[in-house]
Order: sequence, then C-alpha cells, then structure tokens
Amino acid sequence: MESIASIILAAGQGKRMKSSIPKTLHSVAGKPMISYSLKITESLNIKNKIVIVGKYAEEIREVVDHIDAGVTYVYQKEQLGTAHAVQQAEPQLNGFSGIVLVLYADVPLLRKKTIQKLIDTHIKNKASCTLLTAILENPEGYGRITKDEEEKVVGIVEQCDLKKSQEAIKEVNAGIYCFNARELFANLKLVNNNNNQKEYYLTDVIRILLNKNHLVKTVAVEDIEEIYGINTRMDLSRISRILYNRNAINHMSNGVTVIDTSNTYIESNVKIGQDTIIYPFTMITDGTRIGKNCHIGPYSHIINSIIGKETRVYSSVVEKSKIGNKTNVGPYTHIRPDSIIGNEVRIGNYVEVKKSFINNGSKVGHLTYLGDATLGKKVNIGAGTITCNYDGEKKNPTIIKDNVFIGSNNSLVAPVVIEENSYTAAGSTITEDVPAESLGIARSRQRNIVDWIKNKK
Ligand code: UD1
Ligand code: CA
Repeated sequence: MESIASIILAAGQGKRMKSSIPKTLHSVAGKPMISYSLKITESLNIKNKIVIVGKYAEEIREVVDHIDAGVTYVYQKEQLGTAHAVQQAEPQLNGFSGIVLVLYADVPLLRKKTIQKLIDTHIKNKASCTLLTAILENPEGYGRITKDEEEKVVGIVEQCDLKKSQEAIKEVNAGIYCFNARELFANLKLVNNNNNQKEYYLTDVIRILLNKNHLVKTVAVEDIEEIYGINTRMDLSRISRILYNRNAINHMSNGVTVIDTSNTYIESNVKIGQDTIIYPFTMITDGTRIGKNCHIGPYSHIINSIIGKETRVYSSVVEKSKIGNKTNVGPYTHIRPDSIIGNEVRIGNYVEVKKSFINNGSKVGHLTYLGDATLGKKVNIGAGTITCNYDGEKKNPTIIKDNVFIGSNNSLVAPVVIEENSYTAAGSTITEDVPAESLGIARSRQRNIVDWIKNKK
C-alpha cells in the first residue's frame, strides 16, 4: 500500500456565510463542519494529516486539537485560492512521494467507502490525479467538468468563469482529489490567477496535467448527496437535515421507531435500544445511550445522557445525567448535569433537578427544585418543595433518607438531613435535621380572627 498524506483545506473565510465564526466551525448536525473531514482521514488511518488554516487559525486549532491530536497545521497567510492553499503544505511534504489526498473542509456528507474507492482507483490506474465527480440536476455553485468530443476530460471551469455554452454542464467537481505528490507540487507552481475571482484554482492543475498527457481519472459518486458543499446558511440547514435523516434511518434499521424523521434530530454516536419510540421534536446529542422500550418525546432534548429501559421522557430536558429503568420524567422537567435518577422514579411537572441522586421508587411530582440533594428509596416530595442549597457562598447538601414524606411547599434549608421514615409538615421551613420516625413541623400556628369583616366596618 502506497503511503498517503492528507491535506484538509480550511483557510477560506466563508464570506457567503456572513458570520464572525469561521465557516468550518459552524455546527453541522451538532458537530463542527471540519470534524467530518477529520473523521475520514482518521478512519483511513492516515498518519500524515495536514490542515490548512488562515484567518481563524487559533479558533480552528483549538477545536481540531480536541477532535484529532495528530494533526499538523499549515498557515495560509492570505487566502489566494485553493491551489495556493495546497501549495503551503509543500515544505511539510518535502521529499514525500506517495499520494496526497485533498479534502475541502466544507463537504461533510462524504462516506469513507467513497474515498476508499477514489484511492483504490487512483492506485490501480497509477494516475497523476483522480477526482470525485457527480451529476447534479442543479449544478449551480460547483466547478463543471468540461470534456472534448471524445468525452475525455479537459478541465474544470468554476461557476463564475462559465461561458454561456458551459452553463448546462451537469457534471461537477466535488473538491476531493488524490494526487501523485511529486506531480502535484511540480504543477501547482504553474497555476495562475487569470480568472474572474483572481484566485489560484486547484482545479487548474487538472488542466495542466492533462495538457502534459498525464493520466487524470474521475470517480463518480453513487449517492450525489455526498458531494454537497456548504457555502451558505441554506446549505448548512439542508446538509444538517440530510445527516439527521441518515442517523434516524440507521436507528430505524436497528429496530427503533422514529415517528417523524423530518422533525427528529439525532446526532451521530447515539445508541438506542429496540422498540424504543422517538416522538417528534426531539433532539438527542452525541454520546447518549437509551435502552429498550423507552418513549422519548415529543419535545425532549437529551444531552449526552444515559437512559435505561422502559423509561419515558416526555417534553423534558435531560443534561449529562443518568436515568434508570421504568422511570417517568416530565412533562416539563429539567434534569441538570450530574444527576443520577434510579428505577421506577417519577419526576413530574415543572421539576428542576441539579446534581442530585434520587433512589428507586421515589416521587417528585410537581413544581419542585432539588439541588445537591440525595434522596433514598421511596421518598415522596410534596408539591412546591425546594432545597435551599445555596447560602450565597457555597452549595450545601440535603439528605433525605428512605421512605421520607416531605409535605407540600417545604423549604429545606441545607445542609440538612431528614432521617428514615420521617414526615415534614406542609408549609414547613426545615432548618434543623429531623430524626428518624418523626414529624418535623416548622410553621407558625394559624389564628382565626372571628368577625374580622364585621368589625372592620
Ligand atoms: C470549490 C472548487 C469547485 C468545487 C467546489 C466543491 C476550486 C477553485 N473550486 O469551489 O470546483 O466544485 O469547491 O465544493 O477549488 N480554501 C482555503 N484557502 C483558500 C481558498 C479556499 O483553504 O485560499 C478552502 C476553504 O476553506 C474551503 C475549500 O478550500 O474549505 C473550498 O473553498 P471554497 O471557496 O468554498 O470553494 P468553492 O467556491 O466552493
Ligand atoms: Ca465550497
């Protein structure tokens, strides 16, 4: 196997996005755009990975370092075009004679098998360059593949350099190429910027190679979606939708029901068990694991969380937390990070839980805030109860042991412990620990002023 180096082009400003964030860091189906190209080079086991960065070099480095620590950065000071961008990597690849795989960081739908096919074709034909193409019904925005009378490729013409007669060409350049390293760098030098954008086009290398009778091969993609590039916010939305669909289809083929794929947003790297149903308007992010026979949504946002089996999460937000089996969450519940919820727990309407542990069989039904709390088994929390966990300086714990019954509308002033089998009376402000098997009552007695209305007159 010939050795391969990859160059990902990410120095462009992305002017068409009208953004102060670099284009390749915009989120596509929940992940930075550039992460999709990085995933391909990683899955191909390429060791020599170069990313070309420009104006937003620091921002891009920070994100890319987290995704793939094995990347080398090359700085393109001025964005003079894609040929100029690739040329910046020449010193880095000095003496390298293998294959250079060029990827544009704004083409996130490519599949690994397509790139593998591109590489295999390139090697098999001993080509100078092999490029990925597609036939698009609407080729607007892409470079067009021009051919001679014998249907042989002669070059690539960019959208804004098209002659009237070329506008109807539907075969386009994906912006993904394999090059013979030596021939690439020898001919990059010959590219000029005599075009409408005054840019040095990488696509011109193809024409130069052909003029020298070097072999240029094309590989047409089977699924044209794969080559869609992102230049505008409209592209961003359209391509995210395609990725969410791909993910939903994967889950459906594993036995998950997705009621309405066009209103479901499941990121990659999510596991969902058989016979779980995902209802509309639900977003599930990277790293989430959901067991079998769950009902998730409608209207739920599950962020990097672990949910057991037969659990229901209805109209709720769950962030970086763990929920057990046969538990019911929602509607309108917010489970904030670092919470652990056990089995057969019920957490209901308008309840916020933060960094708390709720053991099996407990109920937190209505309008409650639990922060830094530990609940034992079969605890019942009355409506409107809050843990006063913050004293203005630090967070304090509330511990509620097994079988405790907290009356409605309690304020539990932390740090405080309610021992096993105890009760607190409705409306109490509990500032002291309650011993086991006891009733804590902390409210002023009611006084009725008889005939008050009559005497007022
Ligand atoms: C490019 C291709 C076009 C192809 C299309 C596919 C060229 C000249 N044109 O057009 O044939 O159909 O992609 O999506 O290559 N970049 C740099 N430095 C620069 C300029 C660009 O790193 O100086 C990077 C950008 O960040 C981007 C990529 O190169 O990731 C492509 O640049 P872009 O301006 O989007 O090219 P297109 O006009 O889409
Ligand atoms: Ca582009």
